[in-house]
Amino acid sequence: MIKPEQIVFSLVFALLGLGFLRLHAASSSLTPSLQAKRSCPYTVIIKTSCSSTTSTRDRISLAYGDAHGNEVYAKRLDDPVSRTFERCSSDKFHIDGPCARDICYLNLLRNGSDGWKPEFVKISGPHTNPIIFDFNTFLPNRVWFGHNLCHHG
Ligand SMILES: *[C@@H]1O[C@H](CO)[C@@H](O)[C@H](O)[C@H]1NC(C)=O
Repeated sequence: MIKPEQIVFSLVFALLGLGFLRLHAASSSLTPSLQAKRSCPYTVIIKTSCSSTTSTRDRISLAYGDAHGNEVYAKRLDDPVSRTFERCSSDKFHIDGPCARDICYLNLLRNGSDGWKPEFVKISGPHTNPIIFDFNTFLPNRVWFGHNLCHHG
């Protein structure tokens, strides 16, 4: 015959076992492949000003993020083949990166001798309201340039 104490003991051991499995599952979710799956898809639209250079061969990099250390970085956005960043054009990019909650800064880096005048950059993502950063100015060469609206402290 089974005593009530035995049932309680079995239950306690079963729960401990479940707890162990859960802990194990949590630590294994830190493997890089699963981390990559947790990244978020963003749509980035960049409008090039109608008073920019006709086109540009400059290398363009982009970085943006939130106030919690989540930064999305794209090393190269330009593509001479598909003729990105022509005067008056809009270019759309799909970029995967860390899941930012509220994007509050954005910087562009231009590297080259053609020059480029973006009008604005618009970012949309799954956990952030769409946000537009206005530029309307020729970017300086080889320095990160942009906006930081994050509230510190
Ligand atoms: C600009 O591009 C050159 C290669 O043409 C590279 O050596 C240099 O490090 C780049 N500068 C920046 C700030 O990215």
